[in-house]
Amino acid sequence: MDDLRAKYIELIAKAGDEATLEDLRVKAVGKKGEISLQMRELGKMTPEERQVAGPALNALKDEINTALAAKKAALADAALDERLKAEWLDVTLPVRTQRRGTIHPISQVTEEVSAIFADMGFSVAEGPQIDTDWYNFDALNIPSHHPARAEMDTFYMHRAEGDDRPPHVLRTHTSPVQIRHMEKFGAPCRVIAPGRVYRADYDQTHTPMFHQVEGLAIDKDISMANLKWVLEEFFSAFFEIDGIKTRFRASHFPFTEPSAEVDIQCSWVDGQLKIGEGDGWLEVLGSGMVHPKVLQAAGVDPEEWQGFAFGMGIDRISMLKYGIPDLRAFFDSDLRWLRHYGFASLDVPTLHGGLSK
Ligand code: DAH
Repeated sequence: MDDLRAKYIELIAKAGDEATLEDLRVKAVGKKGEISLQMRELGKMTPEERQVAGPALNALKDEINTALAAKKAALADAALDERLKAEWLDVTLPVRTQRRGTIHPISQVTEEVSAIFADMGFSVAEGPQIDTDWYNFDALNIPSHHPARAEMDTFYMHRAEGDDRPPHVLRTHTSPVQIRHMEKFGAPCRVIAPGRVYRADYDQTHTPMFHQVEGLAIDKDISMANLKWVLEEFFSAFFEIDGIKTRFRASHFPFTEPSAEVDIQCSWVDGQLKIGEGDGWLEVLGSGMVHPKVLQAAGVDPEEWQGFAFGMGIDRISMLKYGIPDLRAFFDSDLRWLRHYGFASLDVPTLHGGLSK
């Protein structure tokens, strides 16, 4: 018994982790452990022997259990000490008075747009920025000979000779997300898809990468009237001005029929643009009723379903709302510009808390 005690006390002292301790517990006092096996021998002893050996074995078992528990607690303490040493904090350091980073106006506006549409039951869908020309064009009723395809100033991905995968492009608009979303989730649906888009174009009002937000609502009886209501609701919330009027002008897009370009009401007073008043109009987006061929390409039955879609420039509505004069500055990473036009990082826009402060 003394040998057993010495052996286990030493092993327990040396154990470096909980798994080793558990292993020792099983070997010593587990059902088939060494001490338990000895206890089974008690039956073969004379009553006199048993009176000595029984209590001694029980005492040994208690001693081992106590040693195991003490070691387990010690290991836990050591682990905590280790963690506290790694996670120290110097509370005597001075507070940072100047905020370091800001939220980019594009990110802020994307959050604002998402919050407003979420309130109307739209969820956010995403698609890849590198997509096949089928999703970007064909599925949207823009076949290869179509002039819209040439007008888009598309960036094509390089293809090695003999590569027979379908051609890939940097998406020229967010409209392919319509197809991907309907393919995956079918109808009915109500989504917006904000994100980056690309066109080979660079001047004062164009950058090769910019941002759009797509809208799509499909159901049994959705009409242009629903589209008009949703957009007026959106613009009033976005510009934080009640009752902004919109004007629909007949237009043409391959993926909608009928199609409309949408203007919002504005005035120019002393060279100052004011939104939501006056008798001027400002073009802000393209829209229409989703073309039956587009529904079909996405696996949605046009005999059963119909709905509207729209596409809007996020950069443009950001400039309008926050009085940002130059588009290219959005992507210059000039810290002075970012500090001036950026938003505090913890002011998450919500409808109840205020979109912009
Ligand atoms: N995809 C168009 C563009 O990039 C914008 C657009 C117009 C999207 C009409 C739509 C739509 O969903 O219905 O210029």
